[in-house]
Amino acid sequence: MKVMVTGGAGFVGSHTVVELIAAGHYVQVVENFCNSERWIVERIERITGVPLALDELDIRDRDALRASMERFRPDAVIHFAALKSVSESTQLPASYYDVNVGGTATLLDVMQEFDCNRIVFSSSATVYGQPEACPVAESAAVGPATPYGRTKLVGEWLIRDCVAAPGASLGAAILRYFNPVGAHPSGLIGELPRGVPNNLAPYITQTAAGQRDYIRVFGDDYATPDGTGVRDYVHVVDLAKAHVAALDALASSDQRELTLNLGTGRGYSVLELIETFSSVVGRPIPYERQGRRAGDIGECWADPSRANAVLGWRAEKTLLEICEDAWRWQQASALPHD
Ligand code: NAD
Ligand code: WQD
Repeated sequence: MKVMVTGGAGFVGSHTVVELIAAGHYVQVVENFCNSERWIVERIERITGVPLALDELDIRDRDALRASMERFRPDAVIHFAALKSVSESTQLPASYYDVNVGGTATLLDVMQEFDCNRIVFSSSATVYGQPEACPVAESAAVGPATPYGRTKLVGEWLIRDCVAAPGASLGAAILRYFNPVGAHPSGLIGELPRGVPNNLAPYITQTAAGQRDYIRVFGDDYATPDGTGVRDYVHVVDLAKAHVAALDALASSDQRELTLNLGTGRGYSVLELIETFSSVVGRPIPYERQGRRAGDIGECWADPSRANAVLGWRAEKTLLEICEDAWRWQQASALPHD
């Protein structure tokens, strides 16, 4: 299949491009590199041994997107391109709606023009807001608490409306990721946070590497086994494989709209993650308990049974592999880039 990947040099996108190529698909990456690096493209080529087609453009640029689609004529699009910082979204809500909602609308319009009728969309567990219970199933109430989360939910609505439009032939897989972590086992690609990381996993690896003094553990009075926040950490390579499976499912099933949780179905606490990383690094990683972070929830972990059934997919990598791969990437990415 010919697959256009928006945001294909980003964290989840780059790993998915690798898995798509391994599965025999032809890939075209569309990127503006606002949150990724050009050398990631070369790294993907090194892993796959295949030259990667790339169009450097902004998905909001309708003419550029049209020209790209005209050249490549994709059968499907996997749509990662978005702004993803929760904290930044509270400061720049209009920019977040512009890229995450406006960009998605432009993409859907252009796809229709070129009879490209399959889309896989990156949504997020953040659409559930404060879940009433864990594990969280797709049927749980949605109610995102931040502008970023709301752009993801509006993106979902937009796509479902396009699927339901009279005469439309669009099929969509809406994938709600829990907490993507880890890196490619080669150590060649991984997450590249800009500035001080907001997320726990890159904060841990940077602290282990000596770039930060200690980890701030936000809250130790949650109703969880050790009092710290519990999340469903899913290896990015497992996540990437789910996108390949979602494309296959859209091609082979009669269902035109799939909304699926992507998580492991298991939660780990902040302290468990720090301990596992420490065992990989071979020494304790310093941390300090602090008050709760504003807006945080105690626990959030997935019921992934629908993705298991519909895609035949389940997350296979362990927390130890997540930490080993993230640490390998942290050490390699600290070196000058070749
Ligand atoms: P990322 O920032 O690493 O990747 C997104 C890529 O899109 C970047 O390479 C960026 O340069 C590109 N991009 C952004 N705006 C663009 C535009 N207007 N035109 C073209 N390219 C543009 O993020 P990620 O972690 O790989 O996330 C991928 C998707 O998954 C996003 O849609 C995000 O909202 C969603 N998601 C991420 C997480 C997470 O924790 N990483 C969790 C749930 C959902
Ligand atoms: C995990 C746990 C923190 C940092 C966010 C977004 C969500 C999604 C993924 C895109 C929590 C604790 C964190 C630190 C800590 N992104 N923590 N010290 O908050 O589950 O989800 O990223 O869709 O939308 O909200 O992930 O990694 O920030 O936090 O103690 O320095 O680690 O309190 O319990 P979160 P996270």
